[in-house]
Amino acid sequence: MATQTRNSSQGILSDDRSRQREEIVAMLTRAYWMELETVINYVTNSTNPDGVRAQEIIESLQEDIQEELGHAQQFATRIKELYGVVPSSVDFTPEQVYLAPPEHQTDIVHVIKGVIEAETGAIEHYNRIIQYTEGVDPVTNDMVIAILRDEEGHRRLFEGFLREYEAEGRA
Ligand SMILES: [Fe+2]
Ligand SMILES: [Fe+2]
Repeated sequence: MATQTRNSSQGILSDDRSRQREEIVAMLTRAYWMELETVINYVTNSTNPDGVRAQEIIESLQEDIQEELGHAQQFATRIKELYGVVPSSVDFTPEQVYLAPPEHQTDIVHVIKGVIEAETGAIEHYNRIIQYTEGVDPVTNDMVIAILRDEEGHRRLFEGFLREYEAEGRA
């Protein structure tokens, strides 16, 4: 005779938390798309730029690609753990118009500002997830806090790049 399993009576996986789980899965799904769109656009923008000054930006974005991909995978795993289903690309709607290639590929300031915008959007959305999951889903909360730290680091690095251009009157 098969042993009956029971659902957890405590925490976000319990039966009476299904509405909150759905809410969190929706927020995690949006985060998943944001990370994957960032991967696409960081590949693009670490390839197109021309010029000596672009090298630092290219190398930095190349490093970030792996990190953002790792974030996407973490979001996907958490969606599954919360009984959600990770979507495929047919449900994807692009949003990052600011990371489209500039008219001139030497326009590195355009890329820097686009990256700052993407990181800012992620920071805002992840802060919302952290607020919502506080005291409700400590595992998602903890995971997103760690990811938020990465995004704040990315944003700060690119702010520094922008400051250098601004100091030279080129931004
Ligand atoms: Fe990320
Ligand atoms: Fe990032």
